Amino acid sequence: MGSWVQGVLFIFVVVCIGNAVGSGEKCDFFQGIWVRDETYPLYKPEECPFIEREFNCQKNGRMDDSYLKFRWQPQGCALQRFDGQDFLERFRGKSIMFIGDSLSRNQWQSLTCMLHTSAPRAQYNITRVGDVSIFTFMDYDVKVMLDRSVYLVDVVDEKIGRVLKLDSIQGGKLWKNIDMLIFNTWHWWNRRGPLQPWDYIQTGKKILKDMDRMIAFEEALTTWANWVDLNIDPTKSKVFFQGVSPSHYNGTSWGEPGAKNCVHEKEPLLVSTYPGGLPPALGVQKSVLSKMKKPVLLLDVTNLSLLRKDGHPSMYGLGGPTGMDCSHWCLAGVPDTWNEILYNLIL
Ligand SMILES: *[C@@H]1O[C@H](CO)[C@@H](O)[C@H](O)[C@H]1NC(C)=O
Ligand SMILES: *[C@@H]1O[C@H](CO)[C@@H](O)[C@H](O)[C@H]1NC(C)=O
Ligand SMILES: *[C@@H]1O[C@H](CO)[C@@H](O)[C@H](O)[C@H]1NC(C)=O
Repeated sequence: MGSWVQGVLFIFVVVCIGNAVGSGEKCDFFQGIWVRDETYPLYKPEECPFIEREFNCQKNGRMDDSYLKFRWQPQGCALQRFDGQDFLERFRGKSIMFIGDSLSRNQWQSLTCMLHTSAPRAQYNITRVGDVSIFTFMDYDVKVMLDRSVYLVDVVDEKIGRVLKLDSIQGGKLWKNIDMLIFNTWHWWNRRGPLQPWDYIQTGKKILKDMDRMIAFEEALTTWANWVDLNIDPTKSKVFFQGVSPSHYNGTSWGEPGAKNCVHEKEPLLVSTYPGGLPPALGVQKSVLSKMKKPVLLLDVTNLSLLRKDGHPSMYGLGGPTGMDCSHWCLAGVPDTWNEILYNLIL
């Protein structure tokens, strides 16, 4: 008996020392550094026929392609390379849904490109029902869906006008019985003027013309968190929250005070800490998630994406006079890494 315990202890100690010697650091997929890797991108943009113009930088005339050839190297471990066929097999007969704003659309398109280019002969079909886009891989019976819901909570047309209801989440009807859900909301919370799609904001019984946007954001996230706690069965559905996808409109934050946007950026920052720090909205997300009863994983893309000032469409997105886009990401590009991490998290 004693020697059995000693044996187990011995193995335990050896494993611990082995880990310490082998990696030196704890594995964290979300901390690390970008390294140049000629085997990237995971797909050539021209092999994915359904990339929207908005994200199709090479087709829109972007000449540099160095930004495509970087791999995320997490601290203390390696990411397993994305295997689309394996992914499709794992999700055979199942469904995946991204819910959120255009950053969700960016990630949804990235994943469908990664899957399509891994199984180019597999038949697919794209349809749209209301606000939900449905990408079906027929041979695998896999559905990869996108529900456009920029606030997650409801915006309702009433007599007084459009009301953003921080406590109401009827939209959640569409999210039940899905095998994997990836939520996101942030970018629309600071919209004002003609770009703001509501006239009033409702919290409890109070209807206001406006309020502190960070507090509104936190209230809405809490409503969403309660919805998840009430409606999700963790044995059936995996739930993720895509963290804050950062924009690059002010070079001061990446140590280039002269830069007014991301247009001339051709390389990532090859360090592990972004000089400008983390966006405060991420702190709000982490705080809400930490109070939840059901397991929700933060797909914490902020750190790694902050370093990718080179990854945005800039003038090679929709273009035009208002078309300087340093918020979305070129495809192929940074969201492929978000999905590669997502894949590693479900392995
Ligand atoms: C595409 O998928 C939808 C269901 O998602 C189905 O109703 C439709 O028939 C499919 N179209 C084709 C051409 O297979
Ligand atoms: C960029 O950020 C710096 C520091 O926060 C600020 O002083 C500057 O005015 C900003 N530039 C622009 C164009 O907003
Ligand atoms: C990432 O976040 C951690 C704190 O969670 C911080 O210490 C680190 O510097 C951040 N890295 C970047 C690139 O901002």
